[in-house]
Amino acid sequence: MRIGDPTPRRMGDLSQSGCKKAVLLKPPVTRRELIIGAAAVPAAAALGGGVAAARARVPFGAAANHHVLPTDQPYRAALARHCDVLVAESCMKWEIIRARRETYDYTHADALVAFAKTNALAVRGHTLVWCEANPDWVKTLATAREADHELSRHIERTVSRYRGTITSWDVVNEPIAEKPLSDKDLRPGQWPTLLGPRYIDTAFKLAASVDPTGQRVLNEYGIEGTSARDRLKRAAFRRLILDLKDRGVAINAVGLQAHLDGAIDVDVDGIAKFCAEMASLGLAVLVTELDVNDMMLPANHAERDALVAKRTRDFLGAVFAGCRPDLVCTWGLTDRYTWVPTYFKRRDGDKNRPLPLDADLKPKPMLDAIQHFCRGA
Ligand code: XIL
Repeated sequence: MRIGDPTPRRMGDLSQSGCKKAVLLKPPVTRRELIIGAAAVPAAAALGGGVAAARARVPFGAAANHHVLPTDQPYRAALARHCDVLVAESCMKWEIIRARRETYDYTHADALVAFAKTNALAVRGHTLVWCEANPDWVKTLATAREADHELSRHIERTVSRYRGTITSWDVVNEPIAEKPLSDKDLRPGQWPTLLGPRYIDTAFKLAASVDPTGQRVLNEYGIEGTSARDRLKRAAFRRLILDLKDRGVAINAVGLQAHLDGAIDVDVDGIAKFCAEMASLGLAVLVTELDVNDMMLPANHAERDALVAKRTRDFLGAVFAGCRPDLVCTWGLTDRYTWVPTYFKRRDGDKNRPLPLDADLKPKPMLDAIQHFCRGA
């Protein structure tokens, strides 16, 4: 792709596995140049970490909120200005697309894709299977045959609808138990209940059969911190990934959600090691849902923003020490629209500030922290 080419970028073009020949860029680096540069870095740069990896250019993305996208003009402009990639925060989940069993509603998903195309942004899909955010009728599925049927037609229809546009999907979201008791503990839910753990294999197989060149991500949260829970979850995630790879399941990427906690340290060594191992297995690594829970952080905005940026730096420093990620994506772009207060409202009543732009769409230190890594400063 040439600079100025209006063709929307495809995540598959950006993946380590499908890298393109080198393009040398001169500063200043624009958003468009940034992403083209990302495609130019060979997979080998992902290994070994350190300075070389930190110099690679990596695309930046954010989850977009379909409720406000059609109407909030400044928000649209901010997404177009700051992002290379958009991911659907909710509108590609089963509860939206499959609110009714017999019909498929892609209205919001199509609108998001159209907005991205107009602004030459790539789009990631989130998510093909998850034990959450399902319509109630999914609970009425009674047999493995029924579950297989619904899963198959959903994945086939959805992946093929956006084939060529969405080339990176979170195929399975959050497969590990919320608080695992062992490294074998998978998340319970309707899909594993009816299909057993093979629901994961099935989803990857279907996604690969519809779009063999796509990036297929296994996405997980709660693996970044130093708590015993996070370490065990990471071990369970790792074990599942190794098992899928051993059995030839068509996984080619892993997603670290990275809903970080301002009050809990990042396990820097553990994350660097994990990322290096994933890269050595030939898997792309994506940061898929970065934000920082600021519930327990100080009230003063400057102080709080600095701590949020520090936590971001700690985490991205660990990731980039282990590999060159394919993407750094935040879960929302602006504090104006964030899911964080749903679970982590501050006791002082002040609004949460977990994202790179504040509620007035002004950049915060978190954005600098991300750019430092994405631009390889
Ligand atoms: C969240 C959205 O941000 C909310 O708007 C929605 O109500 C619930 O889901 N991990 C995920 C995302 O993979 O899909 C979740 O998104 C946040 C946690």
